[in-house]
Amino acid sequence: MLTVQHLEKHFENTKVLNDISFSLEEGQALSIIGSSGSGKTTLLRCLNFLETPDAGTITVQDKVLFDADHHANCSEKEIRKNRLHFGMVFQSFNLFPQYTALENVTLARELMAKDTGESKDAIRAAGMELLDQMGLADRAGHYPHQLSGGQQQRVAIARALALHPDILCFDEPTSALDPELTGEVLKVIRGLAEQKTTMIIVTHEMAFARDVADQVIFMDGGFIVEQGDPKQVIDHPQEERTKQFLARFAENN
Ligand SMILES: Nc1ncnc2c1ncn2[C@@H]1O[C@H](COP(=O)(O)OP(=O)(O)O)[C@@H](O)[C@H]1O
Ligand SMILES: [Mg+2]
Repeated sequence: MLTVQHLEKHFENTKVLNDISFSLEEGQALSIIGSSGSGKTTLLRCLNFLETPDAGTITVQDKVLFDADHHANCSEKEIRKNRLHFGMVFQSFNLFPQYTALENVTLARELMAKDTGESKDAIRAAGMELLDQMGLADRAGHYPHQLSGGQQQRVAIARALALHPDILCFDEPTSALDPELTGEVLKVIRGLAEQKTTMIIVTHEMAFARDVADQVIFMDGGFIVEQGDPKQVIDHPQEERTKQFLARFAENN
């Protein structure tokens, strides 16, 4: 489904991503773990074309969406179209405060309706179905400030799913939540994994990363230090830096 090859990103003189290469099969979940500052968010932002990589390629279903060597020709319109392959769920939900839960889910599809010809009723029905899937059917008319953090994040997941992305990306989806609310969000993501949603999940929830993912990447200093089977990487890491990270992590939790 997704192949990333030799991706690099600099900010001024600092190289934040170095030679990042990995691939993800359809229906698989990839967890990315690593300390703060290791480049995880930047990687997701590159995949979503919120940042422009300095080198490398991004290929989705055999279509090269990004090639740093030929990027100069890429129009805004093309970038917007490419972005639709990826759904993004942020740490801080980023819902539109002036819209209800349902409106947050349907807004993008309504804006696209002039091209897709989709009816307002069909969009609403699809939005309601997604909210129902997230356990929020009775919250459709609520505004973000009337929802708990966990509910807001589930609305954000429904919103990302509404555009049928090929790959759903999560950037620390539970980091901004009170501990008692993380469970409901992890449960929803677990459900998506069971339905074989192709996902990339940046997370500090190690047990979750191990259980839900088909593949784990450990990043440090902008490099992929170790990648492979979750039980291998998390329970039996080979690299010294992975061992140190996991040991530090175990101490603090
Ligand atoms: N827009 C930016 N300008 C300059 N430096 C940035 C920018 N975004 C991120 N960085 C730097 O890139 C590095 C990686 O950041 P980030 O991808 O957010 O890491 P993580 O998500 O793993 O914590 C950090 O050193 C951070 O300070
Ligand atoms: Mg981050």
